[in-house]
Amino acid sequence: MSAENAIEIHDLVQRFGSFTAVDHVTFSVPRGEIFGLLGPNGAGKTTTIRILCGILLPTSGRASVLGFDVARQPEEIKKRIGYMSQKFSLYGDLTPQENLDFYASIYAVPRAGRAGRISELIELSGLGEHRKTLTRNLSGAWRQRLALACAIVHRPPMLFLDEATAGVDPVSRREFWDLIYRMAGEGTSVLATTHYMDEAEYCNQIGMMHAGELIALASPDALRAQMPGTLLQVDCAGPAQAFQVLEAMPGILEMAIHGARLHVSLAEPGQADELQRRLGRAGIAIRSLNAIQPSLEDIFLYMVQQRQPTPTHVVGE
Ligand SMILES: Nc1ncnc2c1ncn2[C@@H]1O[C@H](COP(=O)(O)OP(=O)(O)OP(=O)(O)O)[C@@H](O)[C@H]1O
Ligand SMILES: [Mg+2]
Repeated sequence: MSAENAIEIHDLVQRFGSFTAVDHVTFSVPRGEIFGLLGPNGAGKTTTIRILCGILLPTSGRASVLGFDVARQPEEIKKRIGYMSQKFSLYGDLTPQENLDFYASIYAVPRAGRAGRISELIELSGLGEHRKTLTRNLSGAWRQRLALACAIVHRPPMLFLDEATAGVDPVSRREFWDLIYRMAGEGTSVLATTHYMDEAEYCNQIGMMHAGELIALASPDALRAQMPGTLLQVDCAGPAQAFQVLEAMPGILEMAIHGARLHVSLAEPGQADELQRRLGRAGIAIRSLNAIQPSLEDIFLYMVQQRQPTPTHVVGE
């Protein structure tokens, strides 16, 4: 493995009986970068992380973290990583400071430096005011920050975040990502999974996973460039009805309902006139129609669509 890469995965497969959860996945993460693994429920994200953390032995293929092989040197890996799992555990009846102290002892942080490291993390995560509050009385966003602080108490050079921001409000999510950004700036490599496509914008590289397969691998900008055609955002009276009307129109590459709006990807920009005519004939009033930059959500749907051609995606707000 090259010294520049924090993670290297080659042709990784994980089967559970006859079911394939990770299907011939290959990618690498350079040191100090943030890699985002995106994909819907059951895509195989957590399974990939569990392999990388040395918890699960892969069926076939190779993976290494910080130069250590997951199958042969899992203990070397476990010492050097931070892992904030999807269902992280903090002790509700301990204060943030006590939780940090507990994790510091689990991760064998030398006693002499412990108090200093804990103060540093309380400062970094902004938990100062809540230092003495019982963890069970903290809001979800504060608990999330505390869990992150616990996961990095031993200064791991590699950090795994599995849905670390699930259920947290957008402002807190942004602050959480600022924190992660700062850590990456100091040389920590990060692999993060998320359902929130907007968060993927923070990543240097993105891997999109679907049904165990890696269906796209690129930077956010390069992914956008891979999307053909012109994307229109149509704000109209009945997006679901508009969706049905436009299903019959040729030259539409992909369509998805985003709350009250419809995103339509056209092979040719000139088809916008035809689209307006068709909606007009169906009596659907268009409030606005704009060409927009595809979001990562649009790209994900497009990539999935390339594999299984049934354009019936509804995306919640
Ligand atoms: N130990 C196991 N035995 C059998 N099947 C498993 C096991 N672990 C995971 N799976 C299955 O593998 C698939 C991938 O699961 P995984 O947890 O990796 O998905 P995920 O991308 O993390 O999804 P989510 O977004 O819901 O967390 C799922 O269908 C899951 O049910
Ligand atoms: Mg998962």
